[in-house]
Amino acid sequence: MNNIEGIKIKDKKLLVRVDLNVPLDKEGKVLDDFRIKSILPSIRYFKRKQAKVILISHLGRPSGKDKKYSLRPIAAVLSRILKKKVRFLPDCIGRRIERKVNSLLGGEIVLLENLRFYKGETKNDFEFAKALSRLGEIYVNDAFSVSHREHASIVGIPRILPSFAGFLLRKEIENLSKIKNKPRRPLVIIIGGKKLSKIKFLPRLLEMSDSVLLNGFLSEIILIAKDILIGRPYPDSKLLDSIKKFDLTDTSLHLPKDVLLSLEDDWLYQRAAALGTIRKEEKVYDIGPDTIELYSEIVRKAKTILWAGPLGAFEEKRFQKGTKEIGERIVRNYKAFKVAGGGDTISAIRKFKWLDKFDYISTGGSAMLEFLCAREDLPGIKALRESRIAF
Ligand code: 3PG
Repeated sequence: MNNIEGIKIKDKKLLVRVDLNVPLDKEGKVLDDFRIKSILPSIRYFKRKQAKVILISHLGRPSGKDKKYSLRPIAAVLSRILKKKVRFLPDCIGRRIERKVNSLLGGEIVLLENLRFYKGETKNDFEFAKALSRLGEIYVNDAFSVSHREHASIVGIPRILPSFAGFLLRKEIENLSKIKNKPRRPLVIIIGGKKLSKIKFLPRLLEMSDSVLLNGFLSEIILIAKDILIGRPYPDSKLLDSIKKFDLTDTSLHLPKDVLLSLEDDWLYQRAAALGTIRKEEKVYDIGPDTIELYSEIVRKAKTILWAGPLGAFEEKRFQKGTKEIGERIVRNYKAFKVAGGGDTISAIRKFKWLDKFDYISTGGSAMLEFLCAREDLPGIKALRESRIAF
């Protein structure tokens, strides 16, 4: 993979793919700036070298040009953090934008509008990739967290422009490779959060690790697949069918022994219960005390820990015990190499002030798991390795 150092970038137009897909509130206020701060080393380097920096990103999954998904507020945040004006351009392709980027001076930075305002981005349309490529002379991928997607700005542009890896992308690969290739054992992987689709990684995670600890939400779907928990509507029947094919008797798989339950329409209701005794109307909000004890013991003995997803609905004080206690166990395991990743995990880590207690925090949630589980390179990394366009 080509590295950007050693390349003369002064006064060159750098088209830099970053991932500014950050949580915003209704007023467009950034709720978590971890991803924004993670790309600063690359931007500062390009600025110091007097390159013309053109940042491109997606935000959310808009259908069409929905203002709610505009990247405009992020330009202001970037300007404030960088202490340098980052100009926002209200589109990401077209003659007007081409003229604007052509008038940039070395060291200037612009942020273009959401790539996903055009269908060509997610469809990996070559014409769209060509339109984007007209804006730059060199392409840099510094968006690890979206490099598992075969999108135009990730895999299309490297077929057209000389392409390089940014500092964040390289740092992600370097740190996550320590888990993927010969980790110190025992390797313990904790999978939580509300995204049930994560369960598709389970067979590979079981293969590569010594223990996989699941949270209550994810174990719920396993119980449904095993016909233990019945009567719940689960829309994704394909996911359910694929789970039925997993070997759920694997001894490295740990499901909660007990969970904390509540009711959607009665917040006063709360009880800890063994997994097999959940009633149809009850919902899982956290792991229970016996599970905290069991998981703590496994985490205590680990030499490598990967944490992807909170153990419960930690945003609510009464459901934060599982996440807080297991998180504390992780950070207090001083001998282990500790990595965490994903939006909700980072929010929990920030909330409990553990940001500096991990060896590495990945900007990628799904991308991190895809990277660890895939036998091949992620599409975005592969595209950089295969890019043969000379500079
Ligand atoms: C993420 O937040 O995981 C990345 O930005 C990718 O977003 P996507 O899942 O909408 O492709």
